[in-house]
Amino acid sequence: MEKRRSLIAGNWKMFKTSSEAVETAQKLVELTDGKVSSDIMIAPPFTSLVPVSDILKGSNIALGAQNIFWEPEGAYTGEISSAMLVSAGCEYVIIGHSERRQYFGETDITVNKKIKAAIKANLVPIICVGESEKERESNNTFFVLDKQLTKGLKNLALNDIKTLVIAYEPIWAIGTGKTATSKQAQEIHKFLRSLIEKNFGDSLAKSIRILYGGSVKPDSIKELMSMPDVDGALVGGASLNPETFSKIVNF
Ligand code: PGA
Repeated sequence: MEKRRSLIAGNWKMFKTSSEAVETAQKLVELTDGKVSSDIMIAPPFTSLVPVSDILKGSNIALGAQNIFWEPEGAYTGEISSAMLVSAGCEYVIIGHSERRQYFGETDITVNKKIKAAIKANLVPIICVGESEKERESNNTFFVLDKQLTKGLKNLALNDIKTLVIAYEPIWAIGTGKTATSKQAQEIHKFLRSLIEKNFGDSLAKSIRILYGGSVKPDSIKELMSMPDVDGALVGGASLNPETFSKIVNF
């Protein structure tokens, strides 16, 4: 079977002004120029998308957004539509990050609407799923992930989600320095792939990319990437520094 192409994605969260973002993107372009065997994506805050997009032109780094709203336009103060993201140069959008679920009331239902809006605009959605520490300790991990993925992808057809990316991000590993072991990540990724197989068939299960996220660092990426079902990483903190992120990209 052809190996899935890996994707290393940087989620900058609410960090960096436009000028800082441009500077970081410029360094990253230099550091990753021509060296890469993975797809690379960075997701700066909305205000930096356009200037960063100019920097990334002609490079092997794609641009992503951290959120999207599902309506095409209207009186929705503070929201950003799929067309706005596309016109800003985005190819990817992160959907349902645990911080959005935890602090901004996102649910599996809103995640589902956002995925549909992204697909309609030809954006590649990266759907984030992951259990909390409490859910893991009470042996509810598989139950929680099944619910998040099944409801998040409800009423979507196989054709719609051909490009979709899944990010497994255990909440207890995000920003905590506690990376899941490669064995833990592999166990969950395999499970998520089996859910895709059950709901969408074998061919998509084989081709869909499943990223791991949660305290990924240059010294943990190689081991994680050696797992058969780990196809890349969604990197938060360690993506803010171009030298560190380029080490992860060139694992
Ligand atoms: P982290 O964040 O790498 O800082 O743990 C990952 C994420 O939230 O996507």
